Amino acid sequence: MFGKIARSTAAVLLLAALAGCGGGSDSDAGPPGGADGTITMGFSQVGAESGWRTANTKSIREAAEAAGVDLRFSDAQQKQENQIKAIRSFIQQRVDVIAFSPVVETGWDAVLLEARRAGIPVILTDRAIDSDDTSLYETFLGSDFVEEGRKAGRWLVDNTEGPVRVVELQGTTGAAPAIDRKEGFEEVIAERPDIEIVATQSGDFTRAGGKEVMEAFLKSTPGIDVVYAHNDDMGLGAIEAIKAAGREPGTDITIITVDAVRDGMQALADGEINFIVECNPLLGEQLMDLARKVVNGEEVPARVVTEETTFTPEEARAVLSEREY
Ligand code: AHR
Repeated sequence: MFGKIARSTAAVLLLAALAGCGGGSDSDAGPPGGADGTITMGFSQVGAESGWRTANTKSIREAAEAAGVDLRFSDAQQKQENQIKAIRSFIQQRVDVIAFSPVVETGWDAVLLEARRAGIPVILTDRAIDSDDTSLYETFLGSDFVEEGRKAGRWLVDNTEGPVRVVELQGTTGAAPAIDRKEGFEEVIAERPDIEIVATQSGDFTRAGGKEVMEAFLKSTPGIDVVYAHNDDMGLGAIEAIKAAGREPGTDITIITVDAVRDGMQALADGEINFIVECNPLLGEQLMDLARKVVNGEEVPARVVTEETTFTPEEARAVLSEREY
């Protein structure tokens, strides 16, 4: 991969600099992995917007500790500019590897080029970026969000009779899971012209956002049959709004969400959500394994897709007690 070529170039420049020949590389930090073999990872997290994110952060912190990785963790509070600042700071700190979960898909090329020039490999985790230059990162570990949207759409197609009026609570505008979950859902419901998305808006993947948008939908949009929420937290916010409007979630209005975190699964088991598509946040172990390989110059697959399932209320009741998150 191009990233490995960049690292080799950085190593040559480093030797040149040590030999007094100049070269001006900013990657003269010594061998990757540090003298004692400890890997330093700079990790820029999206934020703490959802139960999924909390579980994902915990998984990454625990896996780093178990693998002996020195983790420099930064919370971007759902702002791209904070992630760009964090990545620049990791470059200055000369970490061995940078991993991040991009809050939005576009606008990363410049900072990732800076990482490449410094000879620091980058791993995308959870969310992808939209760039023509796939050599800016070594691998992407995470879910197939389009497939998650398709699973939600398939359940709706198979379990309803028309006409069906759907309101959609989208994730953060410009984020890969918001774009892809919408795309996959729309692709499948296209086979049923009697299913219509009558209103759609971002609730920013938060419970408060889901509640606020649903309150507005309930006032502005008559005859809502179904809520399709891009994550559990927004679905849980919608449940609060539906109850406050004197209606019964899961019965008067069908609710489909994505994630399958504990609170979502509890609502599913209680019949307030009707179907959940799983999105697995436990990426820590795989991330540390990929990081070790990348730092050691081993080959890694360009894409590692997370395995996931779906849950009905009965299935949620069966697994709830042993759920890790
Ligand atoms: O990128 C994963 C998504 O981000 C999760 O589905 C959502 O809960 C989170 O905010």
